[in-house]
Amino acid sequence: MSRQDRQLKVGLLFAESGVTAAIERSQRCGALLAAEQVNREGGVLGQPVLTLVGDPGGDPDRYRDLCDDYVRNHGVRLMLGCYMSHTRKAVMPVVERADGLLFYPTPYEGFEYSPNIIYGGPAPNQNSAPLAAYLTRHYGARVAFVGSDYIYPRESNHVMRHLYKQHGGEVVEEAYMPLYPSADDLAQVVERVVRAAPDVVFSTVVGTGTASFYQALAQRYGNGPRPPIASLTTSEAEIAEMGAKVACGNIVVAPYFTSVDSPQSHAFVSACRAFFPADVRITAWAEAAYSQMRMLCQAVNATGSLEVEVIRNHLYHASLDSPQGRVHVEQQNNHSHLFARIGEIDASGQICIKWQSPVAIRPDPYVVVHNLDDWTASMAGGGPS
Ligand code: ACM
Repeated sequence: MSRQDRQLKVGLLFAESGVTAAIERSQRCGALLAAEQVNREGGVLGQPVLTLVGDPGGDPDRYRDLCDDYVRNHGVRLMLGCYMSHTRKAVMPVVERADGLLFYPTPYEGFEYSPNIIYGGPAPNQNSAPLAAYLTRHYGARVAFVGSDYIYPRESNHVMRHLYKQHGGEVVEEAYMPLYPSADDLAQVVERVVRAAPDVVFSTVVGTGTASFYQALAQRYGNGPRPPIASLTTSEAEIAEMGAKVACGNIVVAPYFTSVDSPQSHAFVSACRAFFPADVRITAWAEAAYSQMRMLCQAVNATGSLEVEVIRNHLYHASLDSPQGRVHVEQQNNHSHLFARIGEIDASGQICIKWQSPVAIRPDPYVVVHNLDDWTASMAGGGPS
């Protein structure tokens, strides 16, 4: 086998432009930071990790074509990327046909399994379930759902509706807007929220529409009290776009925030500050991309193999002391054991952790194990950082 055949090549599938560019640039920087660190530490199998990049621009067809190009023209079978679920679904058949592996560092709606995908972001039992318990306990029973109109928000709301009902809550509105909302789209959705008078808004709006929606809602309520917005996808990248004044008081859920107080988190934040361009934010999804790249490199170095089956089997028995805490991949479903943290955004735009799971939560993408009682117990067990 030639030296070139023994080089780890990873095809990155993150957009530099388009509706989700801010968050995908953050993920890409996380992945590249991990590769750079691994290369400084001696590389993989004695050679530098090679990362291939392109700009699929948030368009599912372009993710599929980029992935196909990596496979056909560059001999790459290991991919890391995708943010929106319809982009992952576009890439999935290409990765499956090539019998490759896609590392997917993003929260998603669950109810999926592919032997060729390693899910590195939370499924609903790792973010929606603790959030529903937290919101009904601290904010009230009436929730309005607002989402972008594609698969993740609709499926995610399906699960959240069920969870809210379990807690005795009520969904008083469910409204969707296009991924690129017009001023009219925003105004209509905001009016529906105001009329429904919820205690809290659960937002599954993604990308650039996030800042526009938060701003439109804040403007509509003016100086009066307004319901807080809780989200699984709003991150430091979207907070920077909307500004701290609009973001203040809203609620976010993720496995990681930069305020996590551990040596691994501090080292990650310093490394990101030195490596990321000034306009790229450190986010939970950059942390997920970073950790997945490190786990992949660790697996290839430990096994001495670039074979997909060997790497995947190693992942099931390995773990990583990541910035969020110790994580590993669950053999039963290829999803990751991850922490859950609920934070509130303060007046300076920083995320203050209000609750965190005492341990990494086992992934249950088909929600077969968890029920309300599990979550009540787990909420009591967690606490502020
Ligand atoms: C998403 O579409 N999974 C954020």
